[in-house]
Amino acid sequence: MHFYGEDLATLHHTHYSTLARDAATYLHQRLSTLGKHRARVFDLGCGSGVSAAVLASLGHSVHGVDVSSAMIAQARKTAPTATFAVDTITDVTIPLCDGILAIGESMTYQHSADYGKGAVAHAIQRCIGSLRSPAILLCDVLLTSIAEELQHDMTATYPQFTVRVEASIDRDVLHRTITTIRHGNDEHPARQCVEDHRQVLLQPSDLLDLAFDIARQGYSTSILTDVGKAPFRKGHVALEIRAID
Ligand SMILES: C[S@@+](CC[C@H](N)C(=O)[O-])C[C@H]1O[C@@H](n2cnc3c(N)ncnc32)[C@H](O)[C@@H]1O
Repeated sequence: MHFYGEDLATLHHTHYSTLARDAATYLHQRLSTLGKHRARVFDLGCGSGVSAAVLASLGHSVHGVDVSSAMIAQARKTAPTATFAVDTITDVTIPLCDGILAIGESMTYQHSADYGKGAVAHAIQRCIGSLRSPAILLCDVLLTSIAEELQHDMTATYPQFTVRVEASIDRDVLHRTITTIRHGNDEHPARQCVEDHRQVLLQPSDLLDLAFDIARQGYSTSILTDVGKAPFRKGHVALEIRAID
């Protein structure tokens, strides 16, 4: 079963990278306010390396990991001065760092049935444990309120690809069947790839519990509804967690 295989990775890289760019710029600005101008940043679910490229160009040292080998292959081209590895959010050893980015809802993907809300909270907690104060974690999650504006069937066409997304929600899990069709040309025939993605959705009360729990541990925590010019869509929020002595 493919998961961010070659075609979806290329499509994401070429047409869905705005959030990665904005989040990296936002993290850079926030690290600057802490005096961290040459920060060590860990990029979890780094995708095609867009955020790593932005951060590296601004003077930070970036290591990115992603479960998709196609994404990592692209990331190595996008951000040649950063380092990358194929690894998973649940297995990777996170070194002590000044900044952690887990954007594009990377922590919410359910690769096994036992990965639920508790696992998302645990992943965030593991990141927090690796913050070298003063330091920042910027991550994003999805809430059940995305249901209010969910497009159940969406098709978009780009020069190289057509993508169809069929979406539904079942018991706090967003299920998307993503069909990517790479258009044929003189060099290669058309091809189609179908991927099944499941993402854990939090109830608003889960998010508040999580934020309060983190705050109780002494971290400053903000819930954000944008990290750049464009507001997030309904049900998409980011958490900015700061470790400051
Ligand atoms: C929507 S993409 C976002 C990529 C990138 N952060 C960005 O904002 O453009 C989600 C990424 O999370 C990665 N991902 C999902 N589950 C993962 C896991 N358990 N471990 C590592 N990476 C994961 C996917 O392979 C994909 O690259």
